[in-house]
Amino acid sequence: MTIQWFPGHMNKAKREVSEKLKYVDLVLELVDARLPQSSRNPLLDKIIQNKPRLMILNKIDLADPVATKQWLAEFERQGIPAIGINAKEDHAKKKIMTGANEVLKEKKARDASRGIKPRAIRAMVIGIPNVGKSTLLNRLVGKKIAATGNKPGVTKGQQWLKISGSLELLDTPGILWPKFEDERVAKKLAVTGAIKDQLLHLDDLAIYALDFLSEHYPDSLVKRYGFTKEDLTVGGVEQLLLISKKRGFKDDYEKGATLFLTELRNGMLGGITFDIVPEQN
Ligand code: G4P
Repeated sequence: MTIQWFPGHMNKAKREVSEKLKYVDLVLELVDARLPQSSRNPLLDKIIQNKPRLMILNKIDLADPVATKQWLAEFERQGIPAIGINAKEDHAKKKIMTGANEVLKEKKARDASRGIKPRAIRAMVIGIPNVGKSTLLNRLVGKKIAATGNKPGVTKGQQWLKISGSLELLDTPGILWPKFEDERVAKKLAVTGAIKDQLLHLDDLAIYALDFLSEHYPDSLVKRYGFTKEDLTVGGVEQLLLISKKRGFKDDYEKGATLFLTELRNGMLGGITFDIVPEQN
């Protein structure tokens, strides 16, 4: 594996997030609903410590709705309040307002009993690149705000964005890196577009995804590419050649891989979730 984050970058990103955390009551941890586990940063728990958190599974329109339900239940089981949203749609705002108020309900009641005047909840969005942080901020604010760049370390003067009378957000999200301790996680992140295509070969990615779909979502391949029962058993390499042929690329499997991955990422194969909920005994 050649994918690496330099320790210097990691420390800088961590420092920046820790610094901003001081000013907020609540962390909105944004993950990709197609990868509720693999698109988290494992260090976040350590960084945010006891700070209240609302987990947000974004891009539910691209994920498998059954798996999304299971993941939401799994996070609740772990004691992490969680909601699912599509940051491109208006419902996101209401869901987040309700979720944030719910997470801070007890604190607010405590404050009230001590005679502390209620004030707006201050929150920040944290997540790895491409989970939809900018899209969500824009949706919440209701206008296009300046792009902040996709790299940890890109910052500018900080401001509070007033979302409503009861919620304010830091205008720059906290950006952390994904973890690549195993190659499968890196492949899942690349398949969903969270990390750049140049880092892994397109055909390897397509083959990985085809093997995964054949096992977990065979119907998606039957519907989209007219696979037969037998096609589903021949393995990713053959399947990639099959798709290339069916789409008129002859044996140019690179073109086939590009087309297949684009269609997969755009949701044309239906809602797919690549992280499987761990089974409880
Ligand atoms: P980031 O700040 O966390 O890095 O992510 P950003 O908002 O830039 O979003 C990354 C991509 O994900 C964008 O697509 C964005 O439109 C898309 N996206 C964000 N939220 C959702 C969602 O809930 N559903 C779907 N389907 N897509 C979502 P892009 O192709 O990079 O750009 P564009 O298509 O918006 O031009």
